Amino acid sequence: MSELYKGEQINRDFKGKDILSIEQFNNESLGVLYDEVDATVQIVESEGGTDLLKWNFLATNFYEASTRTEFSFRFAMLRHGGSVDGPSDKMQYSSVSKGESLQDTAITFEQYADAIVMRHPQVGAVAVAASETNIPVINGGDGTGEHPTQALLDLYTIKKKMGKIDGLNITLLGDLKNGRTVHSLAKLLAKYDTTINYVSPAELAMPKQYIEQLGELGIQQYESTTLEDCLPTSDVLYVTRVQGERFLDQADYHRLKDHYRITPEVLEKAKDDMIVMHPLPRTGEITREVDADPRVAYFDQMKYGMYVRMGLLALVLGKTVQQPVNDTFLLTEL
Ligand code: NCD
Repeated sequence: MSELYKGEQINRDFKGKDILSIEQFNNESLGVLYDEVDATVQIVESEGGTDLLKWNFLATNFYEASTRTEFSFRFAMLRHGGSVDGPSDKMQYSSVSKGESLQDTAITFEQYADAIVMRHPQVGAVAVAASETNIPVINGGDGTGEHPTQALLDLYTIKKKMGKIDGLNITLLGDLKNGRTVHSLAKLLAKYDTTINYVSPAELAMPKQYIEQLGELGIQQYESTTLEDCLPTSDVLYVTRVQGERFLDQADYHRLKDHYRITPEVLEKAKDDMIVMHPLPRTGEITREVDADPRVAYFDQMKYGMYVRMGLLALVLGKTVQQPVNDTFLLTEL
């Protein structure tokens, strides 16, 4: 494929669509998704779950480690009354270990399941699988490329914690070169009136392609190697892990991995109503002592992750927990 397939525009209609990139979403589609998520939160909090996706099956194909993404997808499906299955132990026991292609594996799951969620170390690999199948394929992270569902849950968390997105000053910190969550999140924040600060060691800076893309949209962006510059004005501090698995030379990883360390002392210089986010897992960049700070939002991200994925799964499978607002329908019923 010459140009990377990034999925169809959603335009309020999620049914049957692959979810590969944040570029598929406009503000209206985000509104549709978040309305579904809000309604789902209410039902799950009062009833525990739904049977909306009964007799629907999700296949999980994770070729890289995952805790939150894989299990929040699994529990999302189960809480909607659906079922989940897929090779365990990161494909080690599937025919992938015999040399089967990604395409053939995806086509196999298409025969059994209604949707696939997939994670793969190579940029574009999920898109290749998606272009071979006719059921929704959801990108659970493709190498250093994108992680759209993480960005969707990150934005939902910011909305819930800050009450708005427009006008916010957001600092992305850490491995901005290899971290796929910040690639998707920056593109998502660019749909709003936000200011974005990129703080990283020079070697792990945000790739130019993203800065140019956001620049064309008129987003205010600042780059720095020190957090002190932007911490006092930040409304959101989004911390990321240095992605050890992407380094060719592990000596470089060890030199850079502890470059930033968020401690209670560091946070003394931040606003009282700033929130601290992290997609997790953390490997030392936020100390455990920070967890008691009321500004911490990474546990909320975990929780909302399941709800956002419940909403997304329902919509791509053509279902909704919301009542139809259709007067004609009600009248004919009478
Ligand atoms: C992230 C990922 O896999 O990109 N984790 C996640 O999905 N919550 C971040 C990371 O691994 O650092």
